[in-house]
Amino acid sequence: MQSDIKTIKKHFQKSIDKYTDNAAAQKYTADILIKELPKTDYDNILEIGAGAGILTSYAANTLKWRNYYTNDLVEKSEIFVKKYIKNTKFFAGDFRKIKFSKKFNLIISNAVFQWFENTDKVLDKCKNLLEKDGILAFSTFSPDNFKEIRELTGLSLKYKSLEEIKTSTEKDFNIISIKKSEYVMKFDNPLKILAHMKNTGVNSLTETHWGIKEVKTFCDNYADKFPDLTLTYSPIIVTAELK
Ligand SMILES: C[S@@+](CC[C@H](N)C(=O)[O-])C[C@H]1O[C@@H](n2cnc3c(N)ncnc32)[C@H](O)[C@@H]1O
Repeated sequence: MQSDIKTIKKHFQKSIDKYTDNAAAQKYTADILIKELPKTDYDNILEIGAGAGILTSYAANTLKWRNYYTNDLVEKSEIFVKKYIKNTKFFAGDFRKIKFSKKFNLIISNAVFQWFENTDKVLDKCKNLLEKDGILAFSTFSPDNFKEIRELTGLSLKYKSLEEIKTSTEKDFNIISIKKSEYVMKFDNPLKILAHMKNTGVNSLTETHWGIKEVKTFCDNYADKFPDLTLTYSPIIVTAELK
């Protein structure tokens, strides 16, 4: 399934205050993203979907720039990113709809591309926004992401496989590196898994409200099928240079 933009915004708006404390997997991918970059110095950087500023904080500690631009669907994100980069220029709204009047040397984005139904269109927009030799670096998730949730509920985003992402990226970019990884979290009860999903905004997979009965069934089935109470993240991390 694919969530609509209003639902995605609503859930991330609600979770943004608790996000950083809960987003261990996104910290893991932000760290890899920054380390995979071919250099650390860029004139103009654009970060797509900056959220509570996890990637922004890693960039602030590692990269050098003249201008660092940030974007998120959720307006409140501006307050978070400005904690790490005071003078960032923030673009509120759906990245796909924003008209930028300048080009960038690096476009970077952590754990956002899985929300874009049409990856090709977004990659095309990135291509047009990059200067010659510009770098695009993003993390997204593979179809194995949250395999436990999919198996139990049938709910999942339409994640693209590594091969699909590779093919789409290679149209206009030379791939520097593309990696699929795994990050497994462990919980001490299934309710904490639900709370984790809520606190990281990921419950925008469905608008349906779960009552006590649905929650109990979910928890019982989870403990039954996955007694170790694991939740598996399956990130794909891409670094590429404009052709
Ligand atoms: C999983 S969070 C990742 C946040 C941050 N990049 C990090 O490093 O943790 C996904 C973010 O993407 C944003 N987002 C989703 N769709 C978007 C869109 N179409 N345009 C801009 N931001 C979007 C959400 O509001 C949310 O803050």
